[in-house]
Amino acid sequence: MEEFAGKVAVVTGAASGMGRAFAQRFAEAGMKLVIADVDEIGLERAASEMRAAGHQVLPVPTDVSKLSAIERLARATLSQYGSVHLICNNAGVEGYLDGAIWEATDKDWTWTIGVNFWSVVFGVRTFIPLLLANEDGGHMVNTCSMTSVVKARNMYGVAKHAVLGLTEALDADLRERGAKVGVTALCPGIVATRLFQGSRNRPPELQNEVPAPGAAAGRELRARMHERLSEGMPPLEVAETLFEAIKEGRLYVLTDHDWDDQIIARNEEILSPRARDAEPG
Ligand SMILES: NC(=O)c1ccc[n+]([C@@H]2O[C@H](COP(=O)([O-])OP(=O)(O)OC[C@H]3O[C@@H](n4cnc5c(N)ncnc54)[C@H](O)[C@@H]3O)[C@@H](O)[C@H]2O)c1
Repeated sequence: MEEFAGKVAVVTGAASGMGRAFAQRFAEAGMKLVIADVDEIGLERAASEMRAAGHQVLPVPTDVSKLSAIERLARATLSQYGSVHLICNNAGVEGYLDGAIWEATDKDWTWTIGVNFWSVVFGVRTFIPLLLANEDGGHMVNTCSMTSVVKARNMYGVAKHAVLGLTEALDADLRERGAKVGVTALCPGIVATRLFQGSRNRPPELQNEVPAPGAAAGRELRARMHERLSEGMPPLEVAETLFEAIKEGRLYVLTDHDWDDQIIARNEEILSPRARDAEPG
């Protein structure tokens, strides 16, 4: 995608952090914005700030873990602006960090995988046909993570590996069909956002009745990670990197090189002789 001015961008998770920054960057490029989030107050605040800066923006309260909500988001976009060219499936939560992976409940899985993975499946199913219908195509960004390319360490990592796989499969299908639709798998490292306060948006019906045995340790880990993120990259810097990547049509976008050793170590271990049956002789 090379031309941005006058086109329409949809960004999920836009009340906070990176989504908020992406919306800002696209608006500065002259795009009309649709911003979506489950945090209605934060969403309204973001919309007011953007309007005050002279940008065109439509806030649409959306729970991205529900197909019906994503479909409503697409309908709201089309009825307001008549088309869509850029969609960022960006909303996410840190999810279950309260024990070993086998100790997680159905509710932990439903929340973590619903917001981080199913949301992207629903985004692909709903928005790719709309982008394909444009004469000049469009672009989809799926916010993955550095955890998508290093060894998965928790449920969040499981979800983010899946988002990367989905994005690669999507890219392959679009290329095979010669579509004018580009795809980017954005893999941020440590970015100064509220990701590790994601539980603020966990819906009541997906809260565990009995706290997990590791709930206290999970709270401490979240607090430590929140501190660590607060020293991370500013979201607007990621937005700038992403904007250039969309222009260039890049599939993989890593925000930094801090994780290179872990990426190499994982792939070396996968390719090591120990990972395979011993070669005969
Ligand atoms: N911050 C980092 O270091 C980092 C690193 C790699 C990847 N990411 C990814 O970046 C994306 C953006 O997160 P962020 O870091 O800006 O965190 P953030 O918490 O600041 O923003 C996430 C937004 O998603 C929204 N959200 C949560 N559940 C939702 C739901 N069910 N429906 C709609 N919106 C919902 C939140 O209200 C919030 O506004 C996420 O996918 C996250 O996994 C973040």
